[in-house]
Amino acid sequence: MIYINGYLALIILLTVPIIALLVYKISNRFRQISKKIQKSMGDVSHISSEVIDGHREVKTFGSQQYEIKRFDKVNQQNRRQRMKILATDAISQPIIQLITVLGLAVVIYQATLPDMIQQITPGGFISFITAMFMILTPLKRLTKINAKIQQGIAAAQSVFGLLDEQAEQDNGPQTISRVKGDIQYKHVGFSYSDNQKTLDDISFHAKPGQTIAFVGHSGSGKTTLVSLLARFYPFTEGNIEIDGVNINQLTLASLRDQIALVNQQVILFNDTIANNIAYGKKEVTNDQIIAAAKAAHAWEFIDRLPNGLATEVGQNGVLLSGGQRQRIAIARALLCDAPILILDEATASLDTEAERHIQSALETLMSQRTTLVIAHRLSTIEKADQIIVMHDGKIIESGTHQQLIKKNQHYAELHRLQFQEKSVDTDLSKAT
Ligand SMILES: Nc1ncnc2c1ncn2[C@@H]1O[C@H](COP(=O)(O)OP(=O)(O)OP(=O)(O)O)[C@@H](O)[C@H]1O
Ligand SMILES: [Mg+2]
Repeated sequence: MIYINGYLALIILLTVPIIALLVYKISNRFRQISKKIQKSMGDVSHISSEVIDGHREVKTFGSQQYEIKRFDKVNQQNRRQRMKILATDAISQPIIQLITVLGLAVVIYQATLPDMIQQITPGGFISFITAMFMILTPLKRLTKINAKIQQGIAAAQSVFGLLDEQAEQDNGPQTISRVKGDIQYKHVGFSYSDNQKTLDDISFHAKPGQTIAFVGHSGSGKTTLVSLLARFYPFTEGNIEIDGVNINQLTLASLRDQIALVNQQVILFNDTIANNIAYGKKEVTNDQIIAAAKAAHAWEFIDRLPNGLATEVGQNGVLLSGGQRQRIAIARALLCDAPILILDEATASLDTEAERHIQSALETLMSQRTTLVIAHRLSTIEKADQIIVMHDGKIIESGTHQQLIKKNQHYAELHRLQFQEKSVDTDLSKAT
């Protein structure tokens, strides 16, 4: 176009900044709406999975209408955002074309002025117009692709936001083979948020093979205290040592190899019972799995299932009862055979009978390794080498069962309350 007629080409070039500005504005809008769509899509799937997982609560608390409204709201939001993006897409193309066509109109008008008619031949004029039309198609394609690119960028931003999350600090250079299990907490302090201390000045020493029990009312920091040992959270004050080595010096893998954990909330994987028990172990024979299941008193019910060890447990073990799930978690910890065992209310959802059986199995297991055990039922921890009573993140009392009873303070009081009620299922939280 410049070769045919520089002046007319200049007129066309004048529209370029206007189009650039428009494309810039439209891109911004695309990106913003796309971000909102990402969020509203997240909300839609979040609410549906929450309602499906919690369908019993929804039904028993009669909150169907409430959930329908909640779902409808995010759905509408999602629809609105999508409408916005479609509208922007639909409007942006005609506007850009309109501007180029206006440029074209000016060119044609200019070309027909008497001065210009003498300068430009009919052939030149036709070539000029054709060249202009040929610009239109790529321009259309460019704005279309821009919409896609902006949506992609918005999606990529949320993906990379997740990928760029800082990984767990694994700066420890040291690896250890199997430890003896000497655990020492030295003035450990920790808080989840800045304003409140969850743990304050925690010190105790567990010698290899000892059992340390933690009691205290709900929320006093027992679970937090034992999670620090596996470095699920970084402690902010003091030191934790295993066999005299600061756990921050160890690689996470070698530290966690030393620890078997039965959590307060049992997590099972959507897999067979055998794979759930052998979870995390690479080479395990069926006999070993059965032995662990027997020790955890899980074999009694597994053996009765039509598919035995090959039974699928469903998502998070929904096909099993609470006590059965717990026994599988105990079997998993037994099979893991780590020198340090953490039991966080491991027997809470078992009946007295099963608990008594498991207690004996656990005792054999505990005798060979260092165990940190949390229990609300005091009857299960009387034999512990040391009982630590927690209150609001602090240790307020420690000693053996006999010592603490003789001392006649917090533990003795809890013990009295629990045995007064004579109900086996009384837990400490009720007592305090
Ligand atoms: N992930 C978390 N983020 C923030 N605060 C937390 C978190 N987990 C626990 N807390 C808080 O820390 C405190 C101690 O919780 P922790 O789970 O250690 O108590 P607990 O003694 O194990 O109680 P329970 O006997 O009920 O299991 C509680 O006040 C709780 O609200
Ligand atoms: Mg807890």
